[in-house]
Amino acid sequence: MKNLVVLTGAGISAESGIKTFRDMGGLWEEYDVMEVASPQAWESNPELVMRFYNERRKKLLEASPNKGHKGLVELEKYFDLHIVTQNVDDLHERAGSKNILHLHGELKKARSTIDPNLVYDIDGWELKLGDTCEKGSQLRPHIVWFGEAVPAIAEAASICERADIFVVIGTSLNVYPAAGLLDYAPKGIPIFLIDPNDVHTSYKNVSFIKEKAGTGVQKLIDILKEKFIND
Ligand code: OAD
Repeated sequence: MKNLVVLTGAGISAESGIKTFRDMGGLWEEYDVMEVASPQAWESNPELVMRFYNERRKKLLEASPNKGHKGLVELEKYFDLHIVTQNVDDLHERAGSKNILHLHGELKKARSTIDPNLVYDIDGWELKLGDTCEKGSQLRPHIVWFGEAVPAIAEAASICERADIFVVIGTSLNVYPAAGLLDYAPKGIPIFLIDPNDVHTSYKNVSFIKEKAGTGVQKLIDILKEKFIND
């Protein structure tokens, strides 16, 4: 089976009712990113940071995977498929995808502020100041904030190096190191980019599918079946 690597961003969850970041009406229009998603914000106003992620978690609990997430599960019948996601939601998991790597953390998890290896599932929507790890330290959202290292990037790069086909869905490709992952893919492999808006990229061999993820993934399935599946 060919290796299909899919890099996803906020756009794949948009049709599930989860807001993107940089679109009109996106989260970074409503909030200053450095005031809710940075170590400095956690230091100076942890209540606001907690409230921001609690709100996001509440919305996520009301959301369900859409046709885009589900279409990627269907592609596992034909490809060895690996998803590298910038999303902190669990909609790929709930759709049933098998291989998912979260680059920017997971909204439904908390981690210790003194031992990053202590990661816990959050029961329900709320994480509170005063909630502690087994060593007695405050728990924080298990999210990679701006200015923090991305621990999963090496594993993501090695997944990308093995790609035969690369698909990018619903990301503005603004945030590094995630946006540079295509550099690790072997030169000349086919790249498909699904987004209803124009996304600037300097990569060659890109086939643009200018659709929302739901429709776009269905089109992708048709194209991939025709081009790469011989039966
Ligand atoms: P952005 O909000 O930057 O980009 C979302 C992309 O999704 C845009 O290119 C939109 O055109 C596209 N889009 C909108 N609706 C769509 C739909 N229905 N189907 C498909 N695409 C759609 O989100 P990301 O690129 O994911 O990081 O942002 C990257 C990172 O920046 C996030 O992981 C987050 C953010 O700050 C952290 O919080 C650490």
